[in-house]
Amino acid sequence: MLSIIKSSALQGIDSYPVSVEVDLSSGLPSFDIVGLPDSAVKESRERVRTAVKNSGFSFPVKHITVNLAPADTRKEGASFDLPIALGILCASGALQSGVADEYFVTGELSLDGSVRPVNGVLPMVYGARKNGIKKCLVPVENMDEAALVEGIQVYPVHNLKEIVQHLLGKNKISPFIADINALFHENQPTALLDFAHVKGQENAKRAMEIAAAGGHNFLMVGPPGSGKTMLAKRLPSILPDLTFEESIEITKIYSVAGLLRNKNSLVRSRPFRSPHHTISASALTGGGRIPKPGEISLSHHGVLFLDELPEFQRAALEIMRQPLEDGQVTISRVNGTLTFPSDFMLVAAMNPCPCGYLGDGNKCHCSMNEIVKYNRKISGPLLDRIDIMVEMPAVTYEDLDGIESGESSAKIKERVLAAHKTQLKRYQNEGIYFNAQLSASQIEKFCSLEDKEKEMLRNAFERLDLSARAYHKILKVARTVADLDGSEHITLPHLAEVLQYRSLDRKYLL
Ligand SMILES: Nc1ncnc2c1ncn2[C@@H]1O[C@H](COP(=O)(O)OP(=O)(O)OP(=O)(O)O)[C@@H](O)[C@H]1O
Ligand SMILES: [Mg+2]
Repeated sequence: MLSIIKSSALQGIDSYPVSVEVDLSSGLPSFDIVGLPDSAVKESRERVRTAVKNSGFSFPVKHITVNLAPADTRKEGASFDLPIALGILCASGALQSGVADEYFVTGELSLDGSVRPVNGVLPMVYGARKNGIKKCLVPVENMDEAALVEGIQVYPVHNLKEIVQHLLGKNKISPFIADINALFHENQPTALLDFAHVKGQENAKRAMEIAAAGGHNFLMVGPPGSGKTMLAKRLPSILPDLTFEESIEITKIYSVAGLLRNKNSLVRSRPFRSPHHTISASALTGGGRIPKPGEISLSHHGVLFLDELPEFQRAALEIMRQPLEDGQVTISRVNGTLTFPSDFMLVAAMNPCPCGYLGDGNKCHCSMNEIVKYNRKISGPLLDRIDIMVEMPAVTYEDLDGIESGESSAKIKERVLAAHKTQLKRYQNEGIYFNAQLSASQIEKFCSLEDKEKEMLRNAFERLDLSARAYHKILKVARTVADLDGSEHITLPHLAEVLQYRSLDRKYLL
């Protein structure tokens, strides 16, 4: 007897359909799984056998063959447990053959027959809908993410017995419906750190406001204790809110990474990731035999904060060059190549020299050689991808002692939101959300300059010896400054402000 259950496997942040074909035939009792299963899938035999028995069904004493089609892609993980168990029950006659035909099924089984959550349910259900499936049986802990897909009936399941009852029509499971709109507009958690606590450093705060408004890469250079880490940690409090499309894109990545638990079914705030500098290159970009998203993908549509930039391994930093440019990372493995989105805003902090005090009175005792060696850890091409660089001097006693506290995050965010709204409106037919994402041809269209401004840029280009990339970046940042100013055109003051954020590399980063 043969039965087929519809399931799927992950490929990057998308899924492809997998038919779980189960055949029972007479002969010596055996249980084989074919179709390039990895060890977790092979172990599925033991889990399925025990779970079926412990759920009160008899396990067929037959020659059982399970094929995971298509047979030429490697299958990973425990998500085929449930489809295999259902297939066996259908093929053995415990369930009528064909009862599960209209369902998409995924889930891991425990030995007692209960269903455990799996990773990547959101892209799987999206894939199922694309293939015309309308009903999904998913682990109860994954029901929130599955319900984000409109036009699908999600049946949350606790255990194998419950599913059999449902398919027999005895004890129907009621479909779970999520109010996606309400979920998206639910109040955001507001325990965020506030900009008002940062005294002085007005220049850096302004630069950070511009970076947040346009999604620009941002570098802070300053002595220890000047507030670099402090400022970066406050960045999430002024980032523009997510659009629904962005939110779904991020949620897919988090679903594949297995980070969507505890009712956080929809990621509603921009990610802020700050990996430690000991991180390896593959943990940054994504790795594993069947690759999982790395930190740069987990920062998609959000911020990747690299504190103490020169301490990172050079290989780890260099590997970010291509994703920073393309907004996605391509990973090649024997089984093929995978692409993960990684359109993030890079925020980095560093000291100007090994002791940290270069430029701060006579405190620095580093030799020229040491300074050059320290800064060489960050390559020119990486620096070229940074749009805004600010120098943060040590905070003065007057600043710290002043009773007047800085502008609050709420106030800054108001301006950022207004500028973001302008960008969303301007780019509604362009498929981008931020000025930082403008392509060369879009820059020509949206960042055109008048003669006076062109003249100023030409002078700066020659004087600062800028690259073509830097030229484009200046225009993008100038667009953001103009948007914050509510101005349709980029004018001289806008351009002048942006140019001061590019001059730093000549000073320290030799
Ligand atoms: N501008 C500031 N306003 C108020 N407090 C500040 C400011 N700058 C620094 N501090 C105080 O100093 C502490 C250290 O600051 P922070 O960790 O941001 O320094 P840093 O620039 O990251 O230094 P390092 O280079 O050593 O990492 C903060 O926790 C805060 O208490
Ligand atoms: Mg710090």
